[in-house]
Amino acid sequence: MGEIEPFHVMALLARARALEAQGRSIVHMEIGEPDFPTPRPICEAGIRALERGDLFYTPALGLPELRAAVARFYRMRYGVDLAPERIAITAGASGALLLALGVLIDPGAQVLVTDPGYPANRHFVRLLNGEPLNVPVGPDSEYQMTPELLEHHWSERATAALVATPSNPTGTLLAHEQVREMASFTAARSGALIVDEIYHGLVYGAQARTAADLGDNVFVINSFSKYFNMTGWRLGWIVAPERYIGEIDKLAQNVYLSAPAPAQRAALSAFQPETLALLDERRDEFRARRDYLVPALRQLGFGIPQMPQGAFYIYANCTRFTSDSYQLALDLLERAGVAITPGIDFGTHRATEHVRFAYTNSIERLQEGVSRIARFLEDPAKSIGFDA
Ligand SMILES: Cc1ncc(COP(=O)(O)O)c(C=O)c1O
Repeated sequence: MGEIEPFHVMALLARARALEAQGRSIVHMEIGEPDFPTPRPICEAGIRALERGDLFYTPALGLPELRAAVARFYRMRYGVDLAPERIAITAGASGALLLALGVLIDPGAQVLVTDPGYPANRHFVRLLNGEPLNVPVGPDSEYQMTPELLEHHWSERATAALVATPSNPTGTLLAHEQVREMASFTAARSGALIVDEIYHGLVYGAQARTAADLGDNVFVINSFSKYFNMTGWRLGWIVAPERYIGEIDKLAQNVYLSAPAPAQRAALSAFQPETLALLDERRDEFRARRDYLVPALRQLGFGIPQMPQGAFYIYANCTRFTSDSYQLALDLLERAGVAITPGIDFGTHRATEHVRFAYTNSIERLQEGVSRIARFLEDPAKSIGFDA
C-alpha cells in the first residue's frame, strides 16, 4: 500500500466542493468525466431492467447479447470482425485493466507504462506483485510511447507494455503503424501489448483505428464511461486474445463475479443509431471546446506543443509561471476559483512543470475560467473575487 498513491486531484476536488459550500463559485477544469448525462435510451433500458427485476449475477464474462453487440460495434465502427467470445464485459476499464494485467503478470514481471500516464496502471501492476517500468515521454514523441522507446526500455523481465490512445492526461494519439510495430515487437519477445482505447469515439478530425486485430498478443481495453457518458454505471470491456479468455473468466469470477447487471442491460441500447448520433453531437461539442481552449491557454503563456487530438484533456507546461505545478493548482483554486489537475497525478517525469486542463465544462464556463486565470497571472499574490 505504501507504493499506491491516491488521485491527488480528489483532494483538490474536495476542497473545491468545500469552497462551493461556502458560497464561492468554482470553474471546474479538473474533472475527468463527461459533463453530459447518460443518453435517454440507455437510461430507459436500465429502468426497464429494474422494473422487470433482471438483477441477478450475469455470467462473469458478461451477458452474451452484450458481448455480441460490442462485436457488431467493431464491425460497424472499425470494419473489424471479432468473435464475441473474445470480448469480456468488465466493471469499467478499471476492471478491464486489472483483469488484463492479472492474467499477464507473474511476480516480479515488469510492465512498461508511460510517464505521464493514467496513474492507476502502475498501481495495478504493483498490486499484482509486478514492477511498473516508467517510460518518460515528452513533447518530442507527443507524450506517447514509441516503438523506439519500447525497444530501449524493454527488459528480460518485461511481460507487457501498456499504452493509451488517445491518452490521459495528454489527449494525444498513437499512429496505427506505431501500434502495429509495438505489437510485433512485443510478440517477438513473447510479450503482450495492452492498448487502452477508452477515449476512442472522442477523437477530433480523424478516425481512430482499433488495435483489436493486430495479433494474438494484443489486449484492447475500452469502456462505456467516456464516449458513452456512462461513468457511474461501471461498465467496460476487454478484447482479449482467445487463449486468455478462460483465465479472464476465472479471474473475473473471483474478483467481482460479474459487471453490474442493470448497467449491462442498459448498455444494450448504447449502440442504437439515435444514441450514437447524439454521442457524435456531443463529441463535436468537445471538439469546439478544445478549439477554444487550446489557443486561449497558449495565449496566456501555457506551453502546449501539439494540438491534442482526442479525449477531453490538455496537458500544459506551466514553467513560465512556476516550478511547482501543484502549488499553482492550489493557488488557482484558492485565489481564482479555478480547479485544475497537477502533473504529479500522472507520474514523476517533469510532473512539477505540467498541469492538466479538462474541458468537461461548457464553453461559457471555460471562458470564465480563462478570464480568471488571466487575472490571477497578472498578480498571483492577489485573490480575485469569485462569489457564486
Ligand atoms: C486512460 C484511462 N483508462 C481507464 C480509466 C478508467 O475508466 P473506467 O473505469 O471508468 O472505465 C480512465 C478513467 O479516467 C482513464 O483515463
